[in-house]
Amino acid sequence: MIKVGILTASDKGSLGQRTDESKGVIEGLIKEMKGEVVHYILVPDEREVISDHLKEMADTHHIDLVLTTGGTGFSPRDITPEATLDVIERQVPGIPEAMRQESLKITPRAMLSRAVAGIRGKTLIINLPGSPKGVRECLSVILPVLPHAIEILKGKAGECAR
Ligand code: MTE
Repeated sequence: MIKVGILTASDKGSLGQRTDESKGVIEGLIKEMKGEVVHYILVPDEREVISDHLKEMADTHHIDLVLTTGGTGFSPRDITPEATLDVIERQVPGIPEAMRQESLKITPRAMLSRAVAGIRGKTLIINLPGSPKGVRECLSVILPVLPHAIEILKGKAGECAR
């Protein structure tokens, strides 16, 4: 079982002014890779609040995969990629590259995503867009590769040769 954490960054959501529909989309999709959501947090678009929760999910809860949703765009308060860069130790550029590359076939707006991904300890952290549509489109691209990525991270897959 892959332990998954979801962090939703949304000022409106945190004030109860918007329902978090993206959480349900993530929950549905990760079932396809035997993932289970063991931790969920909805926070305002505050850099330190986001980075503190990401650290806690990695260091205290030892979550395998943290998926963030929201705060990757151009709005003045969009700060999730910066909060993620504050806590990751090694970047994984191929993941956001793949999401943008595939999503660009659906909408040119995909280029507006500033999402990043990276590793902290044995935790993989990936930014997803905020909209349920964006989450579905991006997560479905990377989903087939995630179990292998997490196996390597946990030291269970010694080598990648097939
Ligand atoms: N990626 C996909 N696959 N589909 C989308 O509809 N929306 C884009 C982009 N990435 C989108 C997408 C838009 S319009 C924005 S502004 C950014 O994601 C950031 O979204 P966020 O601020 O909600 O995280």
